[in-house]
Formats: sequence, structure tokens, C-alpha cells
Amino acid sequence: MKIGILSSGGDCPGINATIRGVGKTAIMHYGMDVIGIHSGFIGLLNKDIQTFDERSLSGILNLGGTILGTSREKPFRKLLASGDTEKPQIIKQNYEELGLDCLVCIGGNGTQKTANLLARLGLNVIGVPKTIDNDVWGTDITFGFDTAVNIATESIDRLHSTASSHKRVMVVEVMGHHAGWIALYAGMAGGADVILLPELGYDINKVNEAILNRAHRGKPYSIVVVAEGIDTPDKKRPSDYITKEIEAVTGIETRDTVLGYTQRGGNPSPFDRNLATRLGGHATELIANRQFGRMVCMKGASVGSIPLSEVAGKLKLVTPEHDLIIQGKRMGVTFGK
Ligand code: F6P
Repeated sequence: MKIGILSSGGDCPGINATIRGVGKTAIMHYGMDVIGIHSGFIGLLNKDIQTFDERSLSGILNLGGTILGTSREKPFRKLLASGDTEKPQIIKQNYEELGLDCLVCIGGNGTQKTANLLARLGLNVIGVPKTIDNDVWGTDITFGFDTAVNIATESIDRLHSTASSHKRVMVVEVMGHHAGWIALYAGMAGGADVILLPELGYDINKVNEAILNRAHRGKPYSIVVVAEGIDTPDKKRPSDYITKEIEAVTGIETRDTVLGYTQRGGNPSPFDRNLATRLGGHATELIANRQFGRMVCMKGASVGSIPLSEVAGKLKLVTPEHDLIIQGKRMGVTFGK
């Protein structure tokens, strides 16, 4: 069999470990041929590919980013400007001309949605969930998330010292476009006093009240962790809006830090390397067994898979009943309400 691998959407630590997991399992265990497709779905439109062998898959386990490159190309989003040829038809034609037996799509929600549409077009497709946001429905965790939480937590730890030294409030903005998983996990691990998640909403007056209460209890500094996806008036940058509101009302010096793309950079954590390796290997096992149209996933401690049709278009969001939220509230953490 001949399989093609692509990575699509935001980069994240663990993609190369996944490429290695799929590729080495395919070549060494199943005797398959493997090609890499560059820049996500753009590479399929242009037949921009490379051939993988055992040597070219070495030395990438611990590399951040993706050796294949990525893009946010969504081939079903609009027809090609010129003529009536649709991008999906070009992809199907190139898939056939490349002699592929299966396409492995490493990506987040958008990628899995495209993968499902390609499966409905008749391509053999396997999805591998990827994102630091951890918001892909159908899997308990995505690789990239653990590394991002480690990076964000280390940054929050470092901000405690400047907050206590200057008796300041430090506001930290973390990634998570729709879901607050990084804010929740890094906020709790970093000992934040206030954690604001897109899913829960917040009342800025309650935030200020909590910070003033801390000051009255002899804690004139606080750590506030906000997800980039929280609502703000006029779509202001969350860290900027929250910082200005806190300082204006409480009178306590408040500074902000946006962690941004550092959460997606650098080497994957050991946890993410092994998660990516397990998911990649299982994807190849599904291909060998000709079980297509599925996304590999983690359910508890076990690797499994679910139909792509069940995943497409859904988000896995934080719920108010999450035990980290329940426990945080018991310990005086304010979640904005
Ligand atoms: O989906 C992962 C993610 O890092 C989000 O957390 C973030 O909002 C988005 O990608 C940024 O997108 P881009 O890389 O296109 O700026």
C-alpha cells in the first residue's frame, strides 16, 4: 500500500512525532510506501510531495513544528477563481494520479472536517487530531496540549515573583480560540487566583471584587489567567481590556503578558511524543486493516478510533462541572462569576 501524510492548520509540538509514528510503522512493520505532502492541502492541489524512507524519518521525534510545513487551506470553502474546476476534484484526481491508497490528515477541527468531506468524495482517509487547544471532539486529549500547558505554567510560575515583589496584578493571556482548556489547566497548575474561560463568561465586577478581597486579606498581588477567546467589549484584546479594567477599579498596578505563539513552539513534551507515536501507529494499523473514514483518538488510557462523520464540525469545550473548576472554587479561585 502507498499512503500520503499531510499536516494542516496551526503548527504544534508533536506533529513530527506523529509523522514519524505513521511513517516508520508503515515502512518497517507493514512494508508500505510513504510520501509526505507539503503545506497541508495545498500540497495535494500542487502535487508538492516528498518520499519518506527510514532515514528521512529519523531525528524528528523531538522537533517542534512540522517538517512538511502546513497551511490553513480549506479546499471545500470556495470554488477555484478560474473556471468551474473545484479544488476537491483536483485533490481527488491528484490522490489517484499519485497512486495513494490512503491519506493521513494531521490537524484540528477544520482539518478533520475537510478529511470527512474528502472521505465522502471517495478517498480513503484517516484523521489524526492535533492542536494545542485540545478542543477536537471525540478524543480525550490532543498532542500539543501537554506541551502548551507546560510552557504556559512555567511562564505563570515566573510571573508570581514579579507580582509579589511589586505587589502587582499580573494578567496572562493564553491561547485557546474557542475553548479554555489551556487557561484552565495552566491556570490551576500555575496557582492563578482568577481564571477566565470563554465557555463560562465573566463579570468584570466580580473579578475586581476578588482581587480587592485578596488585598484586604493581606495578598496585594494576584495572578489572572485569561483565554484569548473570552468576550470583551468591541473585541478588544482580552489581556489589554482586563488589565485596564482591574487597574482602573482596584487602583492596584496591573501588567499583562501575552504568551502567544511561544505555546506552540519548541520541542514536544515526552508525554506528547508518546501520545503522537501511539496515535500515529494506530492510524497505520487502521490503514493496514482497511478501516478508513475514521479519526484515531484517546479514550481514557486507550487508543481507539471513531468515524470522521461523528467528529466533523464539533468542538470539545470545557464544562462548568469539570472537577478542576469545582476544586478551584473550593480553594478560592475565581472563574469570573
Ligand atoms: O488552533 C491553535 C491556535 O494556536 C489557536 O490557539 C490560536 O487562536 C490560533 O491557532 C492562531 O492561528 P494562527 O496560527 O493562524 O495565527
